[in-house]
Amino acid sequence: MGKQDTGIGLVGAGFMGRCHANAFRSVAGLFDLPLQPRLAILADASDDLAEKSAAALGFARGTSDWRALVSDPEVEIVAITAPNALHAPIALAAIAVGKTVYCEKPLSTTAESALAMTLAAEAAGVTTLVGFNFLRNPMIRLAREIIAGGEIGEITGFRGRHAENYMASPDAPHSFRTDPAGGGALADIGSHIVSMARYLVGPIAEVQADCRTIFPTRPVAPGSAERAPVEVDDMTHALVRFETGAAGSIEANWAATARHMDLSWEISGTKGALAFSQERMNELLLWSDRPGRSGYTRIDSGPAHPPYGAFCPAPGHHLGFNDLKVIEVAELLAAHAGGDNPGPDFREAYEVQRVIEAMQRSDRARGWVTL
Ligand SMILES: NC(=O)c1ccc[n+]([C@@H]2O[C@H](COP(=O)([O-])OP(=O)(O)OC[C@H]3O[C@@H](n4cnc5c(N)ncnc54)[C@H](O)[C@@H]3O)[C@@H](O)[C@H]2O)c1
Repeated sequence: MGKQDTGIGLVGAGFMGRCHANAFRSVAGLFDLPLQPRLAILADASDDLAEKSAAALGFARGTSDWRALVSDPEVEIVAITAPNALHAPIALAAIAVGKTVYCEKPLSTTAESALAMTLAAEAAGVTTLVGFNFLRNPMIRLAREIIAGGEIGEITGFRGRHAENYMASPDAPHSFRTDPAGGGALADIGSHIVSMARYLVGPIAEVQADCRTIFPTRPVAPGSAERAPVEVDDMTHALVRFETGAAGSIEANWAATARHMDLSWEISGTKGALAFSQERMNELLLWSDRPGRSGYTRIDSGPAHPPYGAFCPAPGHHLGFNDLKVIEVAELLAAHAGGDNPGPDFREAYEVQRVIEAMQRSDRARGWVTL
């Protein structure tokens, strides 16, 4: 008997939409899944865009009407890869008709609307997953296992940052990412390092943040001579205290000249330490104290670190960014079929959003904020 096929509706066919489509297309050939995804409908901002992207990405049809996609009986899972301000209305409409919702980060533009999405999903009992794909890295899972197993002792410090350079030029234009409603470096990429901090060290209890706008104006559109004010942060530096008592810092920075994908951290424990950077995502550094031999040991990714082996039987051949999305989609489909949901679900993404808003409040108040 063939596997049950499950209709996918994808809203938004930009950077992330293509990444999701790739994952839905390839996942069944890599993972043993209880069901087979079928690329049913793709929605984008116009019919023309939607039809072109549907054909290019392997969807049966395209539409400019995401509401029609959400309510179409062929769609069982709604994947949201549209700009942030659309996440809440699309997700709420999908939840209202009982669909599984797979939403990109940040979950919404405010913690208040992220909470409304979370409560609606929980009341309806639908499966939700949020695209914090960097947590799917087998090296990150190994780090969590090492911490949970007590190998580096009690965690005392977390120093993390997500630094990229895509807004490092004053001429990088406005986009949904600079929308005062929910934009900024902290919401855009800070959400990733906050989710990572929570995943590895646990809930954050207190923050004190400095949010800075480096460039007061940016072009209104790519190549435009007209400039408009910037109302969001280009970089945020925050001190954090975790519920466990561990302390540290978090930086979100999209104007970090020289950095392409520095989602990185170092975690200190009473017996050892761990360090990681997404720029070398197939390596985890483990520090141990041995007389005359103290230092970091580099652990190379391989089939010993599931689910690396789903992609390649040989160590050191490396997973890439898109593979993390394939892992995420495999977990989404298993959860949709009734298996465990490893998350992060909407509730966890709401908690991430609360941390971000606490940092923004702290910046305005110039002091510590308790969550
Ligand atoms: N998880 C990650 O690593 C990661 C990386 C990049 C972006 N993202 C998230 O993905 C989302 C999209 O970001 P992106 O970089 O792909 O942006 P993008 O601008 O490349 O793509 C957005 C797409 O949405 C479409 N769109 C706009 N309005 C629409 C509407 N009304 N109906 C349907 N489609 C519409 C646009 O035409 C475009 O195709 C954001 O929430 C972003 O934060 C996540």
